[in-house]
Amino acid sequence: MLTHLLADSSATFWLPEQASNFAPEHDWAFYFIYWLSVVAFVVGGAVSIAFAVRFRRKSPDQRTSPLRDHLPLELTWTIIPTIIFIFLFVIGFRTFVKQSTPPANAMEIRVAGYKWFWEFRYPNGETATRDLYVPVDTPVRLLMSSESSSQDDAAVIHSFFVPAFRIKRDVLPYHYTVMWFEATREGSYHIFCAEYCGTGHSKMIGTIHVVPQDEFEEKIKPAGWDEDKETLAEFGERTFGEAGCTACHTTDGSDLVGPTLKGLYESSVDLESGETITADENYLRESIMDPQAEIVKGYPPSMPTYAGRLNDEQIDGLIDFIKSLD
Ligand code: CUA
Repeated sequence: MLTHLLADSSATFWLPEQASNFAPEHDWAFYFIYWLSVVAFVVGGAVSIAFAVRFRRKSPDQRTSPLRDHLPLELTWTIIPTIIFIFLFVIGFRTFVKQSTPPANAMEIRVAGYKWFWEFRYPNGETATRDLYVPVDTPVRLLMSSESSSQDDAAVIHSFFVPAFRIKRDVLPYHYTVMWFEATREGSYHIFCAEYCGTGHSKMIGTIHVVPQDEFEEKIKPAGWDEDKETLAEFGERTFGEAGCTACHTTDGSDLVGPTLKGLYESSVDLESGETITADENYLRESIMDPQAEIVKGYPPSMPTYAGRLNDEQIDGLIDFIKSLD
């Protein structure tokens, strides 16, 4: 953490780096309240201690003098805090209104919260999970909702949180919520789910990459296999990471939400239905495109379908990658 602080001058002890248009005014309000609290604590504490010493009862027969009211004093300790609290309301409300009203020219990105990963859809229709690319100095509007993976599985409440942007809003089933920001500094920043949403909650993380406009255009181009640079299995491994599979499946034999993929190909799989099936190419393909069709014994039916999200080349790559894991 210390090296992180030293590397980035806009980060402070309490708050991460400032990477959006909202960060400066948010932090100003935070530190205003922080120092107000420090002053109130120190002054209040010091006066309490001083009075306890100064006006201590010195003998059992010492009596408290009669209490009289003191109008100027009472007015002072009423008017000054009232002005401070109204001021706090005004600065908080101004930022709230600004955060609630995205500019009309904002680029819209659709955010879907699944159990347990984030999916993003860019204006060109391309989708991505985990890694979200946005252009620097461009207003971005996030249209967010929580989705369920299948009819038998209820969608739950998530919360989309980007600390470096100082934005956070709940992501709900059957309802859209909206949030916007303008990233002001290039770099990569954490995305968290800030609402406990079940087994995979802590895995529901991602990264926002703030890049120049031309790099953004490049990044959201449809994904494809570059035959000159990688094997089909390597392309599959890349897809495995980019499509968010790692949130639920390992390749080293250990268990997450879903079964491991190590040694899966050509193995016998016990299904919830009581049947046993051999994990051939058709089984692997069906498990990606229609995951509810064959549920592996002992695992929840929580995998979303990837039909329409992955193209044939990506599915071929994934299958080749799974075949390589023995
Ligand atoms: Cu989604 Cu916690």
